[in-house]
Amino acid sequence: MTRIGVIGLGYAGAAICHALINDSLIDELYIYDINKDLLMAQRNDLAQAAMINCKIVKVLPATLEDLYSTDILINTASAKVTTSDRMAELIANKPLILDLFKHFIGYKGLILNITNPCEIITKLIVDATKIEPKRVLGSGTILDSIRLKWAISNTYNIDPHLVDAYAFGEHGVDLIYAFSNTTIAKKPFFTYLNEHNLNYDEEAFKDAVVKAGSNIFKVKQRTEYGIANCINFIIRNIINETKTILCIDAPTIYNGKLIYTARPVIVLSNGYLKDADFSFSEEEINKYKQVEAKFYQVLYLN
Ligand SMILES: NC(=O)c1ccc[n+]([C@@H]2O[C@H](COP(=O)([O-])OP(=O)(O)OC[C@H]3O[C@@H](n4cnc5c(N)ncnc54)[C@H](O)[C@@H]3O)[C@@H](O)[C@H]2O)c1
Repeated sequence: MTRIGVIGLGYAGAAICHALINDSLIDELYIYDINKDLLMAQRNDLAQAAMINCKIVKVLPATLEDLYSTDILINTASAKVTTSDRMAELIANKPLILDLFKHFIGYKGLILNITNPCEIITKLIVDATKIEPKRVLGSGTILDSIRLKWAISNTYNIDPHLVDAYAFGEHGVDLIYAFSNTTIAKKPFFTYLNEHNLNYDEEAFKDAVVKAGSNIFKVKQRTEYGIANCINFIIRNIINETKTILCIDAPTIYNGKLIYTARPVIVLSNGYLKDADFSFSEEEINKYKQVEAKFYQVLYLN
């Protein structure tokens, strides 16, 4: 039995719990928030929602000690989100995360971080817990990859099942589309467009993918459903050991130092296994190198 914990029961955390209890994949869900009234209210709402499902997942309010013995810990704890500038969240989230994750030194399971700035916070969780980097992952650009798939299918009116799309680099302004590996009906993206006399409008794609989060945030002051289904997808694939390709935050070494970048990797239950065998274009590689340099700068030179 896989024991899953979720930290933070705000918009993202609660939507993730909702996706997890509806998938019938797990038996028990351990949930935790520093706001105890919110914790109990979300627990009751989720536990009542579970009653109507065929399989009733138990939703249990947890202590930090309870969370320590989970197999997978999903982190969404964050200071109040007041901006769609993910990097700006670092000021308030850095001390919060370092303080919270000192309770997980030596944790034996797998940690999956969602809190922004995602690649930077994921690395800070390694610093705080001192556990091996391959057991700490971030949600990275899985949501951006899905948004790219949506933008392609929506723009060109194509069945989404025929679109295989990848985005990597940063879950943020320096997101890179991996058009080199993105296909429509098994054809490379630009080959398909050329063969069907279709145009690529860079600005429209930017609005639908890179700015997707901020466009939603502008109106709702949150984003939740997309990330919730993405996290459920990651958890399902980890638990079932499907060896699928996931664009998530994985550790790498830059200038001799640990950083995290979002890129296509293959994961197993014990953490990230290896980079997927993608060959990127020269332009994509150059953009990726700039992203690595940026994360190194934020983590080690600021
Ligand atoms: N990676 C992604 O794709 C993605 C998508 C959506 C949101 N996010 C990020 O997820 C984070 C949460 O977003 P949200 O909209 O749910 O925010 P929110 O304010 O609704 O929820 C944050 C929750 O964390 C709790 N919290 C704060 N400190 C805590 C602590 N020390 N221990 C336990 N709980 C604590 C708060 O009480 C609150 O309930 C933000 O950083 C946001 O940018 C990331």
